[in-house]
Amino acid sequence: MSIHSEVKKVTTNTLQKMKAKGEKISMLTAYDYSFAKIIDQAGIDVILVGDSASNVMAGHETTLPITLEQMIYHAQSAVRGIQRCLVVVDMPFGTYQSNSDVALASAIRIMKETGAHSVKLEGGIEVLESIKKIVGAGIPVMGHLGLTPQSIYKFGTYTVRAKELEEAEKLKNDIVLLQEAGCFAVVLEKIPSALAKEVSELIHIPTIGIGAGKYCDGQVLVMHDMLGINTEFKPRFLRKYLNIHEQATDAIKSYINDVKNNDFPNESESY
Ligand code: KIV
Repeated sequence: MSIHSEVKKVTTNTLQKMKAKGEKISMLTAYDYSFAKIIDQAGIDVILVGDSASNVMAGHETTLPITLEQMIYHAQSAVRGIQRCLVVVDMPFGTYQSNSDVALASAIRIMKETGAHSVKLEGGIEVLESIKKIVGAGIPVMGHLGLTPQSIYKFGTYTVRAKELEEAEKLKNDIVLLQEAGCFAVVLEKIPSALAKEVSELIHIPTIGIGAGKYCDGQVLVMHDMLGINTEFKPRFLRKYLNIHEQATDAIKSYINDVKNNDFPNESESY
């Protein structure tokens, strides 16, 4: 037995067993050591080092600008904070779409340099060869269908996807292809709940929903959104569990006030 194996770790197999047992899978994003540690110790099943780091960490309008190097930095930091959960790292825009050799090289860099357990990439049949090549190299792949933010300029809007028959049929074909290509799970973003139910029942690998209703096998949210760090982002699917923006603002104002009034530091806070 390895000296590192006291904690029962979540693996891709664990997630598939959870689906088989009807046990829901919890997933949240994290991009740094400190929050990854809190989230892991709270008992999350999966941490996604999402390319939403481009928005919430770097302040970009879309996920497109984040680079492989930046994703590797975020993933390395998050991995240092975890002991138990499975860590999935988003492959950023431009690192897997051109051809499957580029995709494999990018996935290998993520696995080798971060210590994460798997990668996620967006798309269906268009990226199938890349998925097969990465899976063939022994790297677990999570798929992502529906609203795929790296294609925002193709969609032109962040509205619900696959409401029309043609797009819904494509999604159904794609999810079966992803399963056959060896994906261990698939994120379904912003699609009708009835479609998410249908495809979750169609495949044996877990579906993880965001804005895809309650019938997915698990749920994912962006940590900054659910903790209320972000105030501007208010989609219907988001439940806020905290209002850190307000609490942090109050705390910082109190600190400023204490400094200005020479109340901080006091005797017991001094040497
Ligand atoms: O980058 C991300 O945070 C994601 C989730 C929205 C699923 O892909």
